Amino acid sequence: MKKLSARRRHPLAAVVVLLFALAVTGGLYAAFAPADTAKADDTAQSLAIEEGKKLYSVGCASCHGTGGQGTSDGPSLVGVGSAAVDFQVATGRMPLQQQGAQAPRKKAIYSQAEIDQLAAYIASLGAGPSVPEKSQYSPDGADIAKGGELFRTNCAQCHNFTGKGGALSNGKYAPSLEDVNPKHIYEAMQTGPQNMPSFPDTTMSQKNKKDIIAYLDTVNSSKSESPGGLELGGLGPVSEGLFAWIFGLGALIAVAIWVAAHTAKAKKS
Ligand code: HEC
Ligand code: HEC
Repeated sequence: MKKLSARRRHPLAAVVVLLFALAVTGGLYAAFAPADTAKADDTAQSLAIEEGKKLYSVGCASCHGTGGQGTSDGPSLVGVGSAAVDFQVATGRMPLQQQGAQAPRKKAIYSQAEIDQLAAYIASLGAGPSVPEKSQYSPDGADIAKGGELFRTNCAQCHNFTGKGGALSNGKYAPSLEDVNPKHIYEAMQTGPQNMPSFPDTTMSQKNKKDIIAYLDTVNSSKSESPGGLELGGLGPVSEGLFAWIFGLGALIAVAIWVAAHTAKAKKS
C-alpha cells in the first residue's frame, strides 16, 4: 500500500498524465474531425443511392432489371450516367407507359429530389455522363451567332431551322425544342436519347453546347420577334415559298383580271 501511493506521487506522474491526456485528445481529434465532413458527404451520397435503389426497384426494375442490367423490355442502364436519368425521368419519358415507336414527353411523375436519388443510384452502377452544372448550360457569355451556325449544321436536319421539330421515319419524330429546359437540352446532347445521335465533349465542346442553348433560348423566347414581319410558323423555306406562291401569284392574277376587265370596258365604250 505504501509502495503504491509512493509511486503515485512520483514527481513525473502529473506530467505523464498530462502528456497522455494530450495524446488522447489529439488522437481523437485527428481520427474524427477531418473525417467528419468527408463522412457526412459519403453518408449523404450513400443515403441517396439507397433511396434511389428503392425507387428504382418499384418503378423501373420491371423493365430495366433488378440491377439495371436490362431485360427484353428495356435496355441496360449500366454506364448511362446520371445525365441520362435526369433527362429521361424529368421530361417524363421514363417510366415508360407503353412500348411504341418512341417514348413521348410526359408530365414527370417524380420530384426533382427523387430524380436525383434515382440518378445517384444509376450512376453508382457504372460511370457515365453526369448532370451538368448550371454554369455549363446557362446562356450567359455564350456566342449566339456561333450557336445558330452549329445548330443549322448539327441539329436542323431533324429539329428544323428554328427548333420547331419535324417527323422522321417509322412514326418517330424530332420534338419541338421550344420550352425545353436548358439543362435538358444539354443532357440530350450529352446522351443522345433514342434516335438522336449523342454529341459528347469530344465531338462538340462544352462551350459549343452552351452556344447552341443560347441560340435556342433567343429564337424561342417570346421577346424575340420575327424580324421579317409574319413568322409563318417558322418552318423555313417551304412555308415561306408557299406563302409567296399563294399571295404573290394571287395578287398578280388579280391585277391581270383587273387590267383585262378595264381594257374590255374601254373597248366597249
Ligand atoms: C415499361 C418499361 C420501362 C419502364 C417501367 C422504365 N423504362 Fe426506362 N426505358 C425503357 C425502354 C424500352 C427504353 C429504351 C427506348 C427508349 O428510350 O424509349 C428505356 C430507356 C431508358 C433510359 C435511356 C437509356 C440510354 O441508353 O440513354 C433511361 C436513363 C431510363 N430508361 C431510365 C428509366 C428509369 C429511371 C425508370 C424508372 C423511373 C425507367 N426507365 C422505367 C423501358 C422502361
Ligand atoms: C438524327 C436526328 C437528330 C439530330 C441530328 C438531333 N436530334 Fe435532337 N432529337 C431527335 C429525336 C428523335 C429526339 C426524341 C428523342 C426522345 O424522345 O427520346 C430528339 C430529342 C431532343 C431533345 C429533347 C426535347 C424534349 O422534348 O425533351 C433535345 C433538347 C434535342 N433533341 C436537342 C438537339 C440538339 C441541340 C441537336 C444538335 C446538337 C440535336 N438535337 C440533333 C433527333 C435528332
